[in-house]
Amino acid sequence: MYLETFAVGAFRCNCTIVGDPATGKAIVVDPGDEAAGILARLEEAGLEPAILFHTHAHLDHYMATRRLKERFPAARVVLHEADMPLWEATQVQARMFGFQVEDPCRPDMHAGHGERLEAGSVTGTVLHTPGHTPGSCCLHVSEADLVCAGDTLFRRSVGRTDLWGGSAQTLARSIRNTLYALPGKTRVIAGHGPATTIGEEQVANPFVSA
Ligand SMILES: [Fe+2]
Repeated sequence: MYLETFAVGAFRCNCTIVGDPATGKAIVVDPGDEAAGILARLEEAGLEPAILFHTHAHLDHYMATRRLKERFPAARVVLHEADMPLWEATQVQARMFGFQVEDPCRPDMHAGHGERLEAGSVTGTVLHTPGHTPGSCCLHVSEADLVCAGDTLFRRSVGRTDLWGGSAQTLARSIRNTLYALPGKTRVIAGHGPATTIGEEQVANPFVSA
């Protein structure tokens, strides 16, 4: 399995490519910015995205989506339905950050909890983990012992809940009931900053204990 994570854009959002070299298919998680760089990495790896998955609809996680979709029209743009109000408010978000952005393409699919997304032999399972935003989701790739956690769980921290639709109580419940239920060895790729593991956070996260 091909796996690469790299930070993109002014907010250093972690974009992840999980690919199946045998079929050349991949899932791209959070193409937040720097479309040209993401396309170059895909090309170098000989992969094309079947799925463009978004952990949530904060602008720094989807600014490159439109350009990737234009290059790979068959790729399915995936977002939880509960984050559509944020996606539709892209220009409001852009003004808040002082950015100029094009309107994003429409999501092709609203994946809910437990949905399986496939790219060749790679399977990601969607975990709905609201709290940072109402539609925040994580993508669990069990065969790689990996979860892309978006802005729900960070190394020794958790996502902020003071933005639109956020709820600290809901976030803590999502982390305890859904993320901490994964095997301790599961590697956590957070939406920003360094990686961690579920087991480490269960014992050392100062915001949400197991
Ligand atoms: Fe966010």
